[in-house]
Amino acid sequence: MSSVKTVIVALLIAAGLVLSGCQSLHNEPGNTLYQQLGERSGIADVVEDLLYLIVADERINHQFKGINVAQFHRNLTDQLCQLSGGPCTYSGREMRELHADMGITNTQFNALAENLILAMEKNQVPTAAQNRLIKQLLPMYPDIRHL
Ligand code: HEM
Repeated sequence: MSSVKTVIVALLIAAGLVLSGCQSLHNEPGNTLYQQLGERSGIADVVEDLLYLIVADERINHQFKGINVAQFHRNLTDQLCQLSGGPCTYSGREMRELHADMGITNTQFNALAENLILAMEKNQVPTAAQNRLIKQLLPMYPDIRHL
């Protein structure tokens, strides 16, 4: 009987170790979306590459003519940093108000998302993290697309 008890105790300990292992894996640095994006500096690199792609993209570059590039870069970086769970605070303008008069179409929205994916790809952001970031941005769609 006591050997049965020993086996049960051993199994419970093993299960506990597996569970705590999963827990620490989950909390391990490197596993949050913010960390997978390379923290703020990694996000800043992605946004920089996004800017180059926007400038080269005939579908949307006309919308960005004459913008304050440094301000756009800082604010979008902060926004993506905050959105991915990082220690940043977005202090730019409100999304709906900002994009309201731009007449943004579905095609243009998709073009920007596509360029963001390309920029993440260029910076070796893992595919799962790319998808997670895009998923976070999708709820903004009604605020940004022209109504
Ligand atoms: C999920 C999609 C989008 C997000 C999260 C987003 C986010 C932002 C952010 C954070 C800024 C900077 C705000 C500030 O400086 O106060 C910005 C500015 C801007 N966005 Fe978007 N945007 C999105 C889609 C688009 C699309 C599809 C276009 C056009 C094709 C667009 C055109 C612009 C332009 C032209 C500016 C600069 C406005 C200015 O400085 O006067 N955005 N956006």
